[in-house]
Amino acid sequence: MTLGLDSTVSLVAPSISKRLLSPSQPLKLGIMASGSGSNFEAIAQAIADEQLNAQIQVLIYNNPLAKAAIRATNRGVEAVLLNHRDYGSREAFDGEIVKTLQQYDVDWVIMAGWMRLVTPVLIDAFTDKIINIHPSLLPSFKGINAVEQALASGVKITGCTVHLVCLEVDSGPILIQAAVPVLPEDTVETLHARIQIQEHIILPQAITLAAQG
Ligand code: GRF
Repeated sequence: MTLGLDSTVSLVAPSISKRLLSPSQPLKLGIMASGSGSNFEAIAQAIADEQLNAQIQVLIYNNPLAKAAIRATNRGVEAVLLNHRDYGSREAFDGEIVKTLQQYDVDWVIMAGWMRLVTPVLIDAFTDKIINIHPSLLPSFKGINAVEQALASGVKITGCTVHLVCLEVDSGPILIQAAVPVLPEDTVETLHARIQIQEHIILPQAITLAAQG
């Protein structure tokens, strides 16, 4: 399959979406975000549109200026600020996150633009129940600045990946990927915007897929 230069193509999501069965009970989601929260919004909208049978129990954000918190409040979702700067270690920070997620009776943890490394404290408390979205076709371009890395490498196709979280960064089992073309005139901003259109489609789908086991 080739990608037209002027188009954005999701390679995987359409075929999977036909096979997605809604869970009978709403999934209880805890969303973690550090930034703008457009993926939070996409999940909330998929729930409102009845494309995802879930409810968002809480948003945890670590950056006091994160727009994700405003989005949560506008959607009637409780937003809890846990600022990593207030904790002496990553483990202590993750311990507080686990406590909060448990207080809000969360079953599935969605890292939607969570810009902190996680520790076994969080991973072991929600084994195989933590989902991350990353703006590249993993295993290419792990870590921060994935969009910059893709542009610098000269690849003609990049995309996004939703995967289960394990201890190694951006490395857990892949749930869904979508591909987008890299255009000759792309900047980090234009390429990231094209990737995010696909993120907003595949993240809600991947949550249902993961819940199917
Ligand atoms: C997304 O591109 C995601 O892949 C990455 O961080 C970004 C978050 O965007 N991990 P937003 O805050 O959901 O708009």
